[in-house]
Amino acid sequence: MQQPDDPSKTLIKTMPLVGSLKQIVGQQRTSWHTPGHTGGKDFPDWLRNLFISADLTELPVTDDINRPVGAALEAMKMAAGAFGSGLTRFITGGSTTGLHILLAMAVGYGGRLLLPRCVHQSVVHIAALMAMDLRWIEADAYSRFGLLPQVTPQSVAAALEANPDGQVVLVTSPDYYGTCADLPTIAEVVHQYGGVLLVDEAHGAHFAFGHDLPPSAMCAGADACVQSGHKTLPVLTPGAYLHISASALTTGRLSADRLEQMLPVFQTSSPSFPVAASLDYARAWLERTGEFAIARQLDHLMDFRSRLSEKFICSPRSMKPDPESSLLRDPLRVVICLDDNIHRPTAADLLMGLSAKGVDIEFADRRRMVLIPSLLQKAQSWRQLADTLNRLLSKDGGFRPAGNDLMDDMWRALITAVPEAALHPGKVLFGDCQQVRVDPSAAVGRISTRLIAPYPPGVPLIWPGEELDKSRVDFLVRLMENNASINGLDQQGFWVLA
Ligand SMILES: Cc1ncc(COP(=O)(O)O)c(C=O)c1O
Repeated sequence: MQQPDDPSKTLIKTMPLVGSLKQIVGQQRTSWHTPGHTGGKDFPDWLRNLFISADLTELPVTDDINRPVGAALEAMKMAAGAFGSGLTRFITGGSTTGLHILLAMAVGYGGRLLLPRCVHQSVVHIAALMAMDLRWIEADAYSRFGLLPQVTPQSVAAALEANPDGQVVLVTSPDYYGTCADLPTIAEVVHQYGGVLLVDEAHGAHFAFGHDLPPSAMCAGADACVQSGHKTLPVLTPGAYLHISASALTTGRLSADRLEQMLPVFQTSSPSFPVAASLDYARAWLERTGEFAIARQLDHLMDFRSRLSEKFICSPRSMKPDPESSLLRDPLRVVICLDDNIHRPTAADLLMGLSAKGVDIEFADRRRMVLIPSLLQKAQSWRQLADTLNRLLSKDGGFRPAGNDLMDDMWRALITAVPEAALHPGKVLFGDCQQVRVDPSAAVGRISTRLIAPYPPGVPLIWPGEELDKSRVDFLVRLMENNASINGLDQQGFWVLA
């Protein structure tokens, strides 16, 4: 019998996924992406071992993550204290599950939701499932380091004014590029209108623990938020926190009973103890050393910027990227741009170049590389990153202007525009609709049955039930030609209503 810790090549060949992961892990690659624990290296040995042996079920001695009464409840209460909420729950299915729970409890079946177009795909799915009445908030504020637009207090107020019955507002902040909405002012506006503010803070779980970071949703006065602990903290995938503010509970804007009712509807009945334990660990670690660790990473960022070729433009250490911009950004979401025009190599080319050198970054669009440092990222790996990027540029012979191909402008226009003809996404996803797959040329003017979202960042360009107009089809075809990975679309064509 083979020893499991010394598998032969023949045995490994019978397990393709195990084999592939084993090979990748064996390469000792450098990580600038989620999850925020750098391949487990940020956990102490004793905890890594515990994660395997503590993969337990609900027993009289272990408590229940969905109905916590003992140690799990104690851990969630301590998380509420640390993150500044009135009530915190551990979610072991990511912010995706957290958003489903939150929106189901706050908006309900057929309820009205005010939201910008650029939301994560998980919001589309719960809106479809719950037949929500969707009203749009315009998003037209941009940071030079982000592709996605943000909402402003003015645009939120305008949407509330136009929809007097619209009580629940959802905002994503920070977004994938680290761009933040002005949450303190938005919370004031929403509450003035008697509404409820929910925040998709999937990318901002670290905000409560650093002085030089934007305010967290809880601190800014939001009523509830979800945070993907696994994206920026030492938390196992897909650990997330769901926080409800104390004032939302005391004013009755949100109800703890409703949360307890909705949580088991969407969270698996077998939530992972290791994932929940890692959420507990990260909270304790952040309370002890979070502030110091964050300050150290910001210092590393300064050093990195000084080493990087001046042909790159790297996002600053400061929360305020431009004097004229009203938007704050997360300085720990490192965005490296190439220039104001599209150049060769593109950011996507550089991502591939880095990957070939064993350096994995989170994402690149055509113009920007997006990197997520761990809170324990080593000085040496910051230096390696600067050296590798500089070498890739010089090897490629430097920048060659390729003309502004307007990909950014098009992406931004399409992500915010609401198509003319639309069926409710729920009707199309769950109704008795016949669908066919067609070539791009035959797709124009047809109704998409799929959510189509370049991934990452998973923000849909087309929702199920929306018309595929020529500009959207052409743009998506171009993205595919540029090897973008797109949820809901592949080389075989578009799924549309028959
Ligand atoms: C803005 C935003 N919200 C929610 C999610 C879903 O998070 P999770 O992967 O934890 O389910 C993501 C994932 O990338 C995201 O970018």
